[in-house]
Amino acid sequence: MKVSPKDLYNHCYGKYGIAAINVFTMEQVLGVFKAASISKSPVIIQTTPVARDYANPVMLLNMIATGAQIFPEVVYALHLDHGNEFHIDAALEEGHYTSLMIDASNDSFEKNISRTLSVVQSAHSKGLVVEAELGVLSGVEDDMEVDEANSRYTQPDEVEEFVSRTGCDSLAIAVGTSHGAYKFSGGQGIQFGILKEINKRLPGYPLVLHGGSAVDPKETQEINELGGQLKSGSRGVSEEELKAAIGLGVCKVNIATDLRVLWTRVHREFFNNHPDQFDPIVPGKKYQEELVEFCLKKFELLGSTGKA
Ligand code: G3H
Ligand code: 13P
Ligand code: NA
Ligand code: ZN
Repeated sequence: MKVSPKDLYNHCYGKYGIAAINVFTMEQVLGVFKAASISKSPVIIQTTPVARDYANPVMLLNMIATGAQIFPEVVYALHLDHGNEFHIDAALEEGHYTSLMIDASNDSFEKNISRTLSVVQSAHSKGLVVEAELGVLSGVEDDMEVDEANSRYTQPDEVEEFVSRTGCDSLAIAVGTSHGAYKFSGGQGIQFGILKEINKRLPGYPLVLHGGSAVDPKETQEINELGGQLKSGSRGVSEEELKAAIGLGVCKVNIATDLRVLWTRVHREFFNNHPDQFDPIVPGKKYQEELVEFCLKKFELLGSTGKA
């Protein structure tokens, strides 16, 4: 059953988190739906503009709709991740999404407000809810790279004004996470002082944590042992950090990189162990199975298991 993330947030706020998982491929769509079905966990399935370009929006959205048909018991929302007005207009036209992100976080405060407000007005008129972003994460997001010097934490003093002037339904915040596989290379982690201040100023209001991948060092190490050249020495968001963030109003945890890292490890491992193989469906099946396991663990950690 497709639901609005607003309903999911009303239920989970302060108690558990909803994984928002970026999908690009059929294996990922099937894997996420299957895990949500097994664990009776609500989930947010999300697509970035890059995913839409890669798979073609018609293919991608129909693939997700088909996943929902195969697993009709799954409670899910369908979200556009990191959209601009162009993607949002298309998404409103397509009629599949329950929610949209307008990412005007690189603009000035006033410009971010005006762009977000305008998206909120058109989305709300069609019954969709809007996630906006205040503050700038470092890392690679879509085809845009933001270095650490140009990243900015969300300023707690700005959040109330931003939310009340735009009417956005949830807020993505920059509290130290970044996109991609190389987070926290300085070892700093989530800035809980800032998160607490934001939560204090927006009590009961759903926050979104981008850059939520764990980037398991065992996975990156194995990839590198199998010929990969990923940078080592950085980590993702820890289990303790995630749990603490949920207690401070984080309802949605975005996860994309972990699925890529898993894909890379599974495929390197498979072709290393079976150099005679050349059939995509064999590692593809293995990837789906491992992805289901990954999601089951993540739902358990976020506390969403059994909440659908
Ligand atoms: O910020 C979200 C994703 O990590 C970006 O993924 O650029 O490959 O669509 P993508
Ligand atoms: P990760 O790079 O940590 O998976 O973050 C994903 C994200 O924020 C998608 O919007
Ligand atoms: Na952004
Ligand atoms: Zn993001």
